[in-house]
Amino acid sequence: MRSLATLTLATLGLCAALSANDSAALYKKCAACHGAAGEKSALGKSKIIKDLSKEEFVAAMKGYQDGSYGGASKALMVGQVKNLTPEQMDAIAAFIIK
Ligand code: HEC
Repeated sequence: MRSLATLTLATLGLCAALSANDSAALYKKCAACHGAAGEKSALGKSKIIKDLSKEEFVAAMKGYQDGSYGGASKALMVGQVKNLTPEQMDAIAAFIIK
């Protein structure tokens, strides 16, 4: 019978800590619906936002804000974008869209 040594895995490398920059903080509330990297269709209704161009992304955000964009579920998004500045929209676009 032999005792098993407990292996302590070095987790340093796994803690690829995302710097708590503004864009990550701004995107946080979006992740619940759009996925951590914008890879999901929100509630099965939205486009995959990481696949939009930055221009399309910002245009959609501004459109939700001024009521000129959106589909059947746009009311959900209007509340999300209401208080965002154009600079914040650009920051989120840069965070999600590579
Ligand atoms: C409660 C769930 C929810 C949250 C939170 C949410 N969204 Fe959405 N989002 C949706 C839905 C649903 C749609 C599709 C709405 C429609 O019918 O126009 C959408 C659409 C979009 C679109 C346009 C894509 C398309 O289908 O035309 C963008 C861009 C977007 N969201 C970005 C964001 C960002 C950025 C945030 C955070 C500030 C956010 N969303 C937060 C549910 C959400």
